[in-house]
Amino acid sequence: MSVNFAALLFLVSAVLFILALRGLSHPSTSRKGNIYGMVGMAIAIGTTLLLAQPGFSALVFIVLALAIGGGIGAYIARTIPMTAMPQLVAGFHSLVGLAAVLVAAAALYSPESFNIGVPDDIHLRALIELAIGAAIGAITFTGSIIAFLKLDGRMSGKPIMLPGRHAINIALLVALVVFVVSLSATASPIHFWLIVIIALVLGVLIIVPIGGADMPVVVSMLNSYSGWAAAGIGFTLGNMALIVTGALVGSSGAILSYIMCKGMNRSFISVILGGFGGETASSGGGDQVERNVKTGSADDAAFLMENASKVIIVPGYGMAVAQAQHALRELADLLKEKGVEVKYAIHPVAGRMPGHMNVLLAEANVPYDEVFELEDINSEFAQADVAYVIGANDVTNPAARDDKTSPIYGMPILDVDKAKTCLFVKRSLGSGYAGIDNELFYKDGTMMLLGDAKKMTEDIVKAMD
Ligand code: TAP
Repeated sequence: MSVNFAALLFLVSAVLFILALRGLSHPSTSRKGNIYGMVGMAIAIGTTLLLAQPGFSALVFIVLALAIGGGIGAYIARTIPMTAMPQLVAGFHSLVGLAAVLVAAAALYSPESFNIGVPDDIHLRALIELAIGAAIGAITFTGSIIAFLKLDGRMSGKPIMLPGRHAINIALLVALVVFVVSLSATASPIHFWLIVIIALVLGVLIIVPIGGADMPVVVSMLNSYSGWAAAGIGFTLGNMALIVTGALVGSSGAILSYIMCKGMNRSFISVILGGFGGETASSGGGDQVERNVKTGSADDAAFLMENASKVIIVPGYGMAVAQAQHALRELADLLKEKGVEVKYAIHPVAGRMPGHMNVLLAEANVPYDEVFELEDINSEFAQADVAYVIGANDVTNPAARDDKTSPIYGMPILDVDKAKTCLFVKRSLGSGYAGIDNELFYKDGTMMLLGDAKKMTEDIVKAMD
């Protein structure tokens, strides 16, 4: 295959990746987006194979690796529960980082296979690229493993603050730059492995102080790193498709991190350096047992909602755990039949991954035009008769708005307390992901519906019928 024709095919796959990203930006087009991405990837892999023309034995290895990797991927995709998606994504990012390190090592030890020179005379540009690719890859590898362990509950989600961590990080960063420069000058494998070791340590140190509510930003930041690491490999391999794909993943991850930081009213730098969240500090915690809480039954909730003219539903992580989306849709349908206006309000960090609630509601065929983002619906709570908060907690916590000492202060919240009545479905008075008590449970306008989200919603439907 001619190089020009290959470049054209790579361009086609790059355009398909851009269309994939565009498609994935809305639930109604996300399936199409996925298909664009798959076709783009198939074209990119096919073109790379035709261009490289591997021998028979190499081809056997490639096909075997594709079958094993694809098989494992398909199995995981089919079996993974939706609630475990964030840690799965973090786990996958670690593999991209590891791949970047391994490709850089292969290029250093066998430069002739990559057309970047001979062992004692590797092109300067390639040395710089592989040094940077290995450094970003190693940071992504260990950083993603720590994120995986924290999100999977195998390691405490609380920030671990090492004394003098900023000074240590800066010293490691400086050492990293020094070794990248010296590797470029000497092509010494020792310097290469020192870069990898320093970057591995840096990956751990950057992520351990981050905890609690900041983890989503970390995952998308690591997503961005893994993209840049892939782009670095693309330069080393001279593969345009990989450069473009890596740059797309890198920049879209960075944009997503920015959007999430905006959603939580955090500065990106303070999230990475500060390690906010995860502290169990709370203004009113510990004494909830003695405090007055108004609880209600499914019958009470049915009565209130049937007689409302406007109900706003606020789904959160608990809806995902209970898989209550189908029951919820049934409830909304019934209310609409009774002439009640029903809308859904989605907080940007509700659940455990970006778009988590949108995916679940789409699965239950909730019409897209009934689903609204925080900034588009927040002003409507004041006119709503009922806010039906189903398994959400942190995203409604007024401490974020009113309590300057709260670790989540500054995060925009859904103003459910402005509705006439706030029905809160959860199993206990316990806290949410950020570990902070929620004053809303004790307010006059709140009625707690204690129970599993699915069971409670089904019971309300029965009571209405
Ligand atoms: P959370 O604040 O985590 O609250 C979820 C609530 O659901 C819990 O308080 C829990 O209370 C309840 N719950 C759990 N299982 C339930 C069940 N079967 N039935 C009924 N209720 C159940 O959720 P949220 O309001 O969606 O906020 C999301 C939080 O996660 C934020 O702090 C966010 O920063 C963080 N986070 C978000 C992401 C992304 S990208 N979305 C990723 C990682 C972390 P009970 O135990 O009392 O039932």
